[in-house]
Amino acid sequence: EAAEKEGYEHFMIKEIYEQPGGIDKTLNRRLNKEGTIVLDGIKLTKEDLDKINKIYIVACGTAYHAGLVGKVAIEKYAKIPVICDVASEFRYRDPFIDENTLFIAISQSGETLDTLAALREAKRKGARILSVVNVVGSSVARESDDVFYTWAGPEIAVASTKAYTTQLTAMYMIALHMGLTKGTLSRERYDEIVAELKTMPDKAQKILDNYQIIQQLADEQFNNESVFFMGRGLDVEVAFEGSLKLKEISYINSFAIAAGELKHGTIALIEDGTLVIALATQNHLYDKMLSNIKEVKARGAYVVAVAKEGNEEVEKTADKVIYIPDTMDELTPILSVIPLQLFAYYVSVARGNDVDKPRNLAKSVTVE
Ligand code: G6P
Repeated sequence: EAAEKEGYEHFMIKEIYEQPGGIDKTLNRRLNKEGTIVLDGIKLTKEDLDKINKIYIVACGTAYHAGLVGKVAIEKYAKIPVICDVASEFRYRDPFIDENTLFIAISQSGETLDTLAALREAKRKGARILSVVNVVGSSVARESDDVFYTWAGPEIAVASTKAYTTQLTAMYMIALHMGLTKGTLSRERYDEIVAELKTMPDKAQKILDNYQIIQQLADEQFNNESVFFMGRGLDVEVAFEGSLKLKEISYINSFAIAAGELKHGTIALIEDGTLVIALATQNHLYDKMLSNIKEVKARGAYVVAVAKEGNEEVEKTADKVIYIPDTMDELTPILSVIPLQLFAYYVSVARGNDVDKPRNLAKSVTVE
């Protein structure tokens, strides 16, 4: 096992560091020399896409959080309505599905029972099945009409990290392909986004190179009883994932919320010293986030913000700011999740927990 860890203390930190490589591989396996995403073999031609009037994205856990981002990307680029659901609910919901429905399952292992059962239900009702899977030849992959493999490589730690960022990459690629093929996304904009996607591995590496800032923060904050994550726009989806990571391996009671929703209840829980991690990476919602940060600060919260380099205004309000490299709003999830993964990791280490095998959890849940 020590050899497999290649010098890292835990699989989780090794896998966090493997993210630039995983994103790069996922991208480059399906990108041709002209910079066009090639979904060879996957039936998403113009004719196929014109028939699809609704998409369901269904998954569990971290894969579900990747689905939430995928939904936003598909609706934005391909203009097809998307419903993203957790598999354990979807399968019993009697969802309306017909032959014009595309069902996308996302799963690292490809063996999660609820996801598989949801897929079978969608298939029975006539949907076309596309899956985004990491493990080649897994059950979800075998039972799908088409498979988009992520290239994260084997993921051992129970808390998923590199699977998530490669799932995000895959979902962006699917959404971009759909938009270009349907004609709802211009070639110019498509090229810009693809070019920016290509910079993700280097930008992710930059965040990893600055891990000490997060380690220090974790060393200061590991004793908290509860932590809140908040954001707006795509930062909400990332807040969910950051909160899940922290719960899974630190056993701290953490909660993620859309910042605008705080005032409808959750703000009652903020008291002196409550740690709030505020994601403020969305330029078009930046001012709104600054107001939300002020709201929790006024109730005594200790605020750690995550912002893009260049957006320094937040320093005036937050207690601490973690910067990620600048990128377009729509792609920030690939980067902004990394400090949160590192934070969960170092908090778990500081608390002396079994990072790779947290209590009560399994890597792949093959029972109901
Ligand atoms: C388990 C794992 C999670 C994972 C979820 C879905 O709960 O602990 O990390 O996100 O299953 O797994 P899948 O293999 O379907 O992505």
